Amino acid sequence: ELAQKGGYRFFMEKEIYEQSDVITETMMGRVVNSHIEFEEIESEFLQEIKAIKICACGTSYHAGLSGAYLIEKLARIPVSCEIASEFRYKDPVLHKDTLFIVISQSGETADTLEALKMAKSAGLKTLAICNVDNSSIVRLADRTILTRAGIEKGVASTKAFTTQVMVLWMLALYFSQLTNTLDENSRAKEIEALLHTPHALKVDENLHERIRRLSKRYLHGHGFFFIGRDIFFPLALEGALKLKEISYLHAEGYPAGEMKHGPIALADPELFTIALMPKNLLYDKIKSNVEELSARDSTICAISSQEFELADDFVRIHTWDHYMLEYYEMAVVLQLLAMEIAIRLGNDVDMPRNLAKSVTVE
Ligand code: G6P
Repeated sequence: ELAQKGGYRFFMEKEIYEQSDVITETMMGRVVNSHIEFEEIESEFLQEIKAIKICACGTSYHAGLSGAYLIEKLARIPVSCEIASEFRYKDPVLHKDTLFIVISQSGETADTLEALKMAKSAGLKTLAICNVDNSSIVRLADRTILTRAGIEKGVASTKAFTTQVMVLWMLALYFSQLTNTLDENSRAKEIEALLHTPHALKVDENLHERIRRLSKRYLHGHGFFFIGRDIFFPLALEGALKLKEISYLHAEGYPAGEMKHGPIALADPELFTIALMPKNLLYDKIKSNVEELSARDSTICAISSQEFELADDFVRIHTWDHYMLEYYEMAVVLQLLAMEIAIRLGNDVDMPRNLAKSVTVE
């Protein structure tokens, strides 16, 4: 097992470090001359599609929420994203002109599989985004796009998540080619950023060391709020989930602009706010949200490329010119933060209590 971990302390750590390489696999053959191509789906398959519904559980759900932002932004197709276990029992309204996308690392999650069966029997076209070929979900869906993350052993998902988001980003661009919603220049910029993703996912040793030291401060307290806006909101949800899963500390992900409608009542120095502050997306908005929390004495850990004087702790990321590159580097920061806190607490990072890698029963 030691050899399998390749010198890393945990599979999770190895998988975090692998992300920069596996994301290249995810893109392989799919970015062709500034265009996105998916040999898995032909454009006729998408004819008549007017809306998209995404369904998933856990981390895959957070990838789905991120994808919903990307598809609406880039392709202007309305998207909703639902938790599979909720979807199953709400007697959902399903229209045949909706493309149903399920996302699953394992392809075996019972709730997601059942949701897929429902959509199929309602006559919807279905697409799976999955990491495991020949899994139940892959076999059932009309079409599949594989994420190619390789085997993921850590129960807390890392590289499966970042590759799922990559497929969704590429899919958003693919749809935009069909809907004609991006001009040549904007598409070129998107593709350029996309091809830069391996750099954003590369773990910087200094950054890791900084997070390792920082983690000491965040072992005790009343809990954590991870906050972000727009697509950084689902990333905040994912950051909070990572921490909960392996450190057993209470954490919540929240849309930063919503804090004033309730949660800000919790603010005090024992409340840790992890603020995702991208330079390229709504920076002034998130900044003023964080200022409000700081004024109420919450302890602030800001993740940004921009200096932020009010932060108690500051994790500096590189300066990128696209918000998705900030998203990816921040994803790594959040994964490392959760892992370093869990390690300090003496937890088994790869096998957290009460959790299973894949939940095949209801
Ligand atoms: C389990 C795992 C999570 C995962 C979720 C969905 O709860 O512990 O890490 O996100 O299932 O799994 P899937 O394989 O469908 O992505």
